[in-house]
Amino acid sequence: SASRSACNSKGTMIVVSNRLPFILKRNEKTGELERKASAGGLVTAVAPVVIRGKGLWVGWPGIHLEDPNEKIPESDPNDNTPTAGLLSSKIVPIHAEPALFDSYYNGCCNGTFWPLFHSMPDRATFNADHWRAYVKCNEEFAKKTINALRLLQENKENKNTSPPIVWVHDYQLMLAANWIRQTAEEEDLKCKLAFFLHIPFPPWDIFRLLPWSDEVLQGILGCDMVGFHITDYCLNFIDCCQRNLGCRVDRKNLLVELGGRTICIRPLPIGVPFDRFVSLAEKAKPVLSTNQKIILGVDRLDYTKGLVHRLKAFERLLEKHPEHIEKIVLLQISVPSRTDVKEYQDLKEELDQLVGRINGRFTTPNWSPIRYIYGCVGQEELAAFYRDSSVALVTPLRDGMNLVAKEFVACQIKKPPGVLILSPFAGAGEMMHEALICNPYELDDAAEVIHRALIMPEDERIVRMNHLRRREQLNDVDSWMKSFLKAMDSLEEEADDIGAT
Ligand code: G6P
Repeated sequence: SASRSACNSKGTMIVVSNRLPFILKRNEKTGELERKASAGGLVTAVAPVVIRGKGLWVGWPGIHLEDPNEKIPESDPNDNTPTAGLLSSKIVPIHAEPALFDSYYNGCCNGTFWPLFHSMPDRATFNADHWRAYVKCNEEFAKKTINALRLLQENKENKNTSPPIVWVHDYQLMLAANWIRQTAEEEDLKCKLAFFLHIPFPPWDIFRLLPWSDEVLQGILGCDMVGFHITDYCLNFIDCCQRNLGCRVDRKNLLVELGGRTICIRPLPIGVPFDRFVSLAEKAKPVLSTNQKIILGVDRLDYTKGLVHRLKAFERLLEKHPEHIEKIVLLQISVPSRTDVKEYQDLKEELDQLVGRINGRFTTPNWSPIRYIYGCVGQEELAAFYRDSSVALVTPLRDGMNLVAKEFVACQIKKPPGVLILSPFAGAGEMMHEALICNPYELDDAAEVIHRALIMPEDERIVRMNHLRRREQLNDVDSWMKSFLKAMDSLEEEADDIGAT
């Protein structure tokens, strides 16, 4: 069966994502291009499958190359990350004019889709030029993917195996699949097409605000299988297909019909490389020298993460429970992100001021309540933070999944363990029931939940953390990858007649 080929490494996969699994940097002294490996969990799970099946990765290298023929460098010999084995011949870089790419990436992806899909329509801009750039760039990704498919078909090495899986990722590439399908059909290039959305899919009432909503749905429906993190997002998507396009749908079996094809919609909640985090936590040296309990926040600096609300809730805690003064510290790590977008620049300003104000209000000669890091943190140091914190605050206003919650529990190897505080508006909230659930909008309650976490008895912490860790170990990122491959294998069986709506 196809399952043997996919899971036993013969199956070929072409991954299409906005970013390649590494970024290119130009060495200032030598002028040579160098790879900077990405440490993300997704890359950890997907890269080995691409490498094993002699597949390809189509994506943006993170830098504009004046000469589109400039060779992509091989990985550094000391690189021991999963992408090290990804030869440059397997990399298909996207080249786009900087102005076009800016309209696509900063304009449409991050100015329109990101806020809208996180149900924050007031932050979204709808600009026809940005949309046109989005269309053009998606076309460019599709063209490169088609070239890649042609190459694979010509390559004897890949003959007589099951058709390659083309796996398109995320909101930056919601149109690409449709073009790939059409051209592949015209040229008789065999492939199975899949799409996975890493962010929430909003309810119809929000989605319909998008002037180009039909095109987006049709683009995604070019695939054979469409994955989301949780069932709610699947149902939102199905709802939109029915109401916007008039598709026949089957909510029970999660199927959508369009143009005589049946598309499978699947919840595939992503996990983290659990065991890798455990071993990082075992190895990492202590980096926090403090007698106070650490409350940890780790986020990209993004308005969806609820950072302003979080800092205010922490301030409320110090007001309402002054017994914690000089006993606790909030360590907030904010990783710079999308710094060209004004919303992100404004948020950075707001956070800088808020941290200053709260620290100014509560700092004593020997203590400050907030340690604020604006920057990147290495994996090992991060594991030490996760391990040595008493509480993790994962309180986004909206989040597709949120992997920080999962990484934190993986690193909680010390006894007695800490406490996870989690927003119900993160996809992770659907499964991680033993966390303390906290509505980030409700400041008084959020302050109380942090207080509760700080005074929680040891035995309760142990029970909660054991459950959380067991579930995440079982449902780690490799298991996500396997579920995806399994869902692709069972496509033929699913494509039966569509049932009642
Ligand atoms: C989210 C998105 C990813 C994106 C990442 C970082 O996790 O789902 O597609 O790559 O944010 O954002 P950036 O804009 O820097 O790629």
